[in-house]
Amino acid sequence: MSESILDTYVRLHPQSAALYEESSRVFPSGVTHDVRYVTPFPIFVERAQAGRKSDVDGNDIVDFVMGHGALFMGHTHPDITAAIVEQANKGTHFGANHRLELEWGQRVKELVPCAEEVRFTSSGTEATLMAIRLARAHTGRDRLLKFDHHFHGWHDAVVGSRNPEAESPESAGVPSATMSNTISIPQGDIDAVEERLATGDFAAVILEPTGASWGTLPLDPAFLSALRDATASHNTVLIFDEVVTGFRVSPGGTQARYGVTPDLTTLAKILAGGMPGGAVCGRGDVISMIEFRDSPWNARKRVQHPGTFNANPVSAAAGGAMLAMVASGEHHARADALNERLVRELNSVLDRTGVPGVIYGLASYFHIALGQEAPRPQAGVEWPGPDAPPQMPGKLNVALKRALINHGVDLMGGSGGFVSGVHTDADIDHTIKAFEAAVGEMRAEDLV
Ligand SMILES: Cc1ncc(COP(=O)(O)O)c(C=O)c1O
Repeated sequence: MSESILDTYVRLHPQSAALYEESSRVFPSGVTHDVRYVTPFPIFVERAQAGRKSDVDGNDIVDFVMGHGALFMGHTHPDITAAIVEQANKGTHFGANHRLELEWGQRVKELVPCAEEVRFTSSGTEATLMAIRLARAHTGRDRLLKFDHHFHGWHDAVVGSRNPEAESPESAGVPSATMSNTISIPQGDIDAVEERLATGDFAAVILEPTGASWGTLPLDPAFLSALRDATASHNTVLIFDEVVTGFRVSPGGTQARYGVTPDLTTLAKILAGGMPGGAVCGRGDVISMIEFRDSPWNARKRVQHPGTFNANPVSAAAGGAMLAMVASGEHHARADALNERLVRELNSVLDRTGVPGVIYGLASYFHIALGQEAPRPQAGVEWPGPDAPPQMPGKLNVALKRALINHGVDLMGGSGGFVSGVHTDADIDHTIKAFEAAVGEMRAEDLV
């Protein structure tokens, strides 16, 4: 009998296994981010360049995690590395204004249609926290409308009721009073939105504008226009959470791609060029709730915003270098074309092998759902809709992740990934072969 996917994984990664055993004595479940929790142990990576990374056992891996979507120009891009090193030599924190933060903010204004003003944070979670607080301060209302399965980071206002079937919040530890102010409904139903907003209680509507979990459940762009009208007519702040889609689905994000301008946008990941960083940008009258004015305003109306590492010089250097490359759209054309080839050929593997499933995506991201027959993307890579794509069962997810790592390919979680502007045709060729081998092994184990 041939070796199982799991046995191969264990055999190929002895150093990772040893390091994980030590990590398990330091970190809960041995990891520092939920998504990196992989059984029986995750791989430990030592170095990375362009579209590839190497683990501590010397395995060479085509990487589609790409810094959780932050590395639009791949690992260690020379322009970004040079900007970071130059700035690190000059100083990592001045505790003062600096030229690079100004240039970084100006680039955000140039690229993102809604960005009349910008405020930097240290992460996407901080960006959505601030956007929601600004909306509450601006409208004087408490409630937040979000959509099921849409992810906006891990602060109290957004972790609740992410799963509509759950009887308790997805994350324990959120006060019920906070939970009661966050209402989550299915995406795409404008009548349900109207019904909620008509109560006049809602400060904001927040969403991932290409659909839940970076488009795992794709969203019809017509819903964005309908939301724009509904929120405007109820004086509710519309927040596009473009932490993943910003600078990726077009240089100006989803709002530039589809021509729908929200009131506020949250950004992170690509924004900061692979360093920590986030931002909230948008309508001047909303962002300026942070502005200092006279004493009564400062004491009672103003939204405070400290944050030690906001717009730190190293993140500003990396982010500025990244946005300079993003602006032309030339790297998008390349990344999108590679992604289209990847999606098309992975679907051909399923067609050829008879394994049920589908691969779809948008621009330079893709999602894989094995286990059920499904239609093929019609034009390019996009899911043909209107029904939701099938969701991959957890056990297939785990098996695919392991099997692909065994063949030198790493996915974000076990079911998707980000193509960068520096992946090569050879990386894509390797991935297609790896995928064919992986689904063959899954079939041999009666999983698909
Ligand atoms: C859409 C979206 N919003 C917010 C966040 C939170 O960003 P961060 O991990 O930088 O806190 C994420 C993280 O993946 C995200 O995907």
